[in-house]
Amino acid sequence: MSVFSQLTIRGVTLKNRIVVSPMCMYSSEDGFSNEWHLVHLGSRAVGGAGLIFTEATAVEPRGRISPVDLGIYKDEHVEGLKRIVDFCHNFGSKVGVQLAHAGRKAEDYAPWERDERKVKGSKHAIAPSPIPYGKDWHVPKEMNEEDIQSVQKAFEEAAKRAVSAGFDIIEVHAAHGYLIHEFLSPLSNRRSDIYGGSLENRERFLVEIVRKIRKVIPDSMPLFVRLSCVDHVEGGWNLEDSIHLAKRLKDEGCDVIDCSSGGIVEDEKVQAYPSFQVPYAERIKKEVGIMTMSVGLITTYEQAEDIIDNSRADLVAMAREFLRDPYLPMRWAKAHGIKPQVPRQYIRAWL
Ligand SMILES: Cc1cc2nc3c(=O)[nH]c(=O)nc-3n(C[C@H](O)[C@H](O)[C@H](O)COP(=O)(O)O)c2cc1C
Repeated sequence: MSVFSQLTIRGVTLKNRIVVSPMCMYSSEDGFSNEWHLVHLGSRAVGGAGLIFTEATAVEPRGRISPVDLGIYKDEHVEGLKRIVDFCHNFGSKVGVQLAHAGRKAEDYAPWERDERKVKGSKHAIAPSPIPYGKDWHVPKEMNEEDIQSVQKAFEEAAKRAVSAGFDIIEVHAAHGYLIHEFLSPLSNRRSDIYGGSLENRERFLVEIVRKIRKVIPDSMPLFVRLSCVDHVEGGWNLEDSIHLAKRLKDEGCDVIDCSSGGIVEDEKVQAYPSFQVPYAERIKKEVGIMTMSVGLITTYEQAEDIIDNSRADLVAMAREFLRDPYLPMRWAKAHGIKPQVPRQYIRAWL
């Protein structure tokens, strides 16, 4: 099995297992996509990626990581997103949307304005408990039951819009210290109601979101969940918790666990090295019997082949390497004697 082998998940067949990982572009106004998103995501389709994810796409305005994030909280957002999806489909790539809510990590300004701030974050931030992300951050408002229901509804409505925009796949962003991860981790969730306390209770917010989304999307549409498989902090969320959660998500109709890590507290210490997150994807795949996607410091064909050929994960996602080279799949194919899938406009360079 190679990273260039096809993969079918429910009704969707990917031409290869090379995935463009979600990446915030900080280029939107009021959540709208524009030429930047079309060219950025479209170039990766021209370059041959099997699956391309949008950046974290907010399900409600206060769930944006910054005011310049992409959103899918209005019906008017659908048209621009559809244009991007249709363009990418011309080149045989499938397109996924990453549905997200920033929770206590929402910020009221763009990243390049951050250094000038005394207090970081957002005045409107919400979270399971009123605990700030780090020193000098706004204290988020503790969500009441109505807030919980309205955010879950926002995920459901966003999923319906994603279907109308023609997306092939939906990924729920439950990682990197954003709202859903904040419910999962005991470091950020100190609730005493049914959404806090035991592991099952902390998982409830996400499990209910997945259940709601599965009900409003076609049976043929794959559903991914991105997890921070570990918090990298003593007493935080760990891999055993992720395995427990993945079993529940599988029962709810989730198809792929996208295995990342970290992001829950500002002062975490992560030892990152090539393929360092692959063991999470490997254990979850083997112990839960669910497909996994691996991401994190994967930059070479040899790493990707190791992951797929040894069944350590089913998909390989890359972020920064795809920023360096949108044509990475074509380049890898050409270098390793595989016939690259090249748009006819570019064929003379790849014969
Ligand atoms: C510019 C940039 C923006 C990112 N935005 C997101 C995002 O919107 N959602 C997400 O889940 N991860 C995001 N990430 C994390 C990546 O998806 C990926 O997990 C991480 O960069 C590790 O992969 P890499 O070593 O291939 O870059 C971002 C990373 C970068 C570099």
